[in-house]
Amino acid sequence: MTAAVHRLLVLDDQPEAAAVRAFVASGAWRDVAAFQLIATRNPRYEAYAFPLPDVGTPCILKIAQAAPKAHRLARRLEALVSHLARDPSRRALRGARLLAQNGLPTLRPLACWTARRGGFFRDSFFLYTRIPARHSLKDYKLGTTGLPPAENARALDAFVAPLAELVAELHRRGLRHDDLACGNFLVGADGALYLVDVDHVHAARLRRWPRLKRCFDLNDLRRLDLDGARLDVFLRRYLGADDSPGWRRAFAFWRAGGNRPFRWLRRRLGLRRGSDR
Ligand SMILES: Nc1ncnc2c1ncn2[C@@H]1O[C@H](COP(=O)(O)OP(=O)(O)O)[C@@H](O)[C@H]1O
Ligand SMILES: [Mg+2]
Repeated sequence: MTAAVHRLLVLDDQPEAAAVRAFVASGAWRDVAAFQLIATRNPRYEAYAFPLPDVGTPCILKIAQAAPKAHRLARRLEALVSHLARDPSRRALRGARLLAQNGLPTLRPLACWTARRGGFFRDSFFLYTRIPARHSLKDYKLGTTGLPPAENARALDAFVAPLAELVAELHRRGLRHDDLACGNFLVGADGALYLVDVDHVHAARLRRWPRLKRCFDLNDLRRLDLDGARLDVFLRRYLGADDSPGWRRAFAFWRAGGNRPFRWLRRRLGLRRGSDR
């Protein structure tokens, strides 16, 4: 079965463009068993690593399922509606471009398309280059880098300032990421930080009111899972001259679930488990 490819977008300014077109046309991307599976946190996504045929560029294919089986029915419907409303791969491709245009280190997008794989709705495919990175900041946080514990902790300490600079620059550029968790910062072979998982990158609105903008920028930090001492160093660096108890309170508000008041309330009333993340 070779059902049609829809909404194909190949970035023709990339050196691999011809190889990408050939790869998409060949349908080889359907045979995911031939690729190396990458673990994803969100059950809605599958990710696979492989060298791009003909040119050998290390690539990742991230597939957003229209109707993920792992979800409960309500979550499945929610995911389906958002999937149909905004093609997630196209959104990710645009997000990566936005970051790159603003000089922020990230993955290099190659193409996106949608296609049916058995189900009724079309899944969404995003092809991008693999960053030569062995670890993410999450590996440092969990101590799974293979480094001796003291060295691992020192390395993580040393990443806090570059992390704060990168996030501050992201926000100065008027962009937001929406999932700024340690797992989405990769440590490249060059030792620099790269921001991945770009599906929700977008330009901030209300940029002309700096205080309002800052308030929502702090919301963008709500998932930043650094421990207390490192988080303090991060905030001091990130806020710079603006560091004040007021902004720290705003940050604490978002972090406690301020953008999801009903979820927050349910948790408060003991109707919902706290997040494991
Ligand atoms: N461009 C990339 N280069 C190398 N590894 C990547 C790249 N993008 C993602 N990864 C790896 O794949 C993992 C999952 O990707 P991600 O896009 O963050 O999905 P999710 O958050 O849904 O698990 C990441 O934690 C990272 O280790
Ligand atoms: Mg991620």
